[in-house]
Amino acid sequence: MKGIILAGGLGTRLRPLTLVTNKHLLPVYDRPMIYYPIECLVNAGITEILIVTGGEHAGDFLKLLKNGHDLGVKRLGYAYQEGEGGIADALKLAEEFSDGQKICVILGDNIIEGNVRKAAGDFFTQTSGAKLLLKEVPDPERFGVAEVDGEGPGARITGIVEKPSQPKSNLAVTGIYFYDNDVFEICKTLRPSDRGELEITDVNNAYLERGDLTFEVLEGWWTDAGTTESLYRATKLVAEGGANHVGLASTASAPLFAER
Ligand code: DAU
Repeated sequence: MKGIILAGGLGTRLRPLTLVTNKHLLPVYDRPMIYYPIECLVNAGITEILIVTGGEHAGDFLKLLKNGHDLGVKRLGYAYQEGEGGIADALKLAEEFSDGQKICVILGDNIIEGNVRKAAGDFFTQTSGAKLLLKEVPDPERFGVAEVDGEGPGARITGIVEKPSQPKSNLAVTGIYFYDNDVFEICKTLRPSDRGELEITDVNNAYLERGDLTFEVLEGWWTDAGTTESLYRATKLVAEGGANHVGLASTASAPLFAER
């Protein structure tokens, strides 16, 4: 399975910070934001990674990360997104890199306490389709929100709405997605939303319509870092409790970026 980190966009919600650098290069406590999704993938054993970025400061990713070896990445690729056409528009650029394989996609501003190794393993054995990671949040209207029917192993997602004004649940769709290679055909069928973007929620709803969408609820804390408030929250959470490498009991003693 290959990893794709989407780190394009203009980061307008973080201006003026993002006038002179890319949002994903801003510090979250002691490391640049982009380190966290890299850690997340490497901790899940995914070490072939493509970073999709854009804007004026794209070259700074290369300066910072080089070939990625210091962070445990075996093969690091870069792609350049023109403009800000949306998450699914950025994902399109990963088709060649994915080379027909399943992929784990993570948004460059998502940070988790724990790890996604179990979910990655579960998706590896899933014959086709997609898997989402959900998380209970106090402010679901800020996110894609999943409506879930049933409980336990039989629970199913019945609908996903992007930033609903009246959310039907408190389950946010986190920015960590597992897809089979059909995702690139699905991306080609999308039309821009009212905000002019190709929406990842439309991709996920396409898998839902096929009846080929599973989910797990993420353990440990999860946050985005794309607004002033959430960047502050992310910094506090990392400072107080660590992220990825400290996290949950199963990884508590594991060294940073250990291969498993
Ligand atoms: O964080 C999870 C949420 O992320 C999901 O619940 C939503 O369903 C999903 O749409 C997304 O919502 P946001 O409004 O937070 O997305 P945002 O525009 O902030 O973009 C998140 C990341 O996606 C950003 O850090 C970089 C990447 N991105 C975004 C755009 C618009 C790109 O690579 N290219 C883009 O054109």
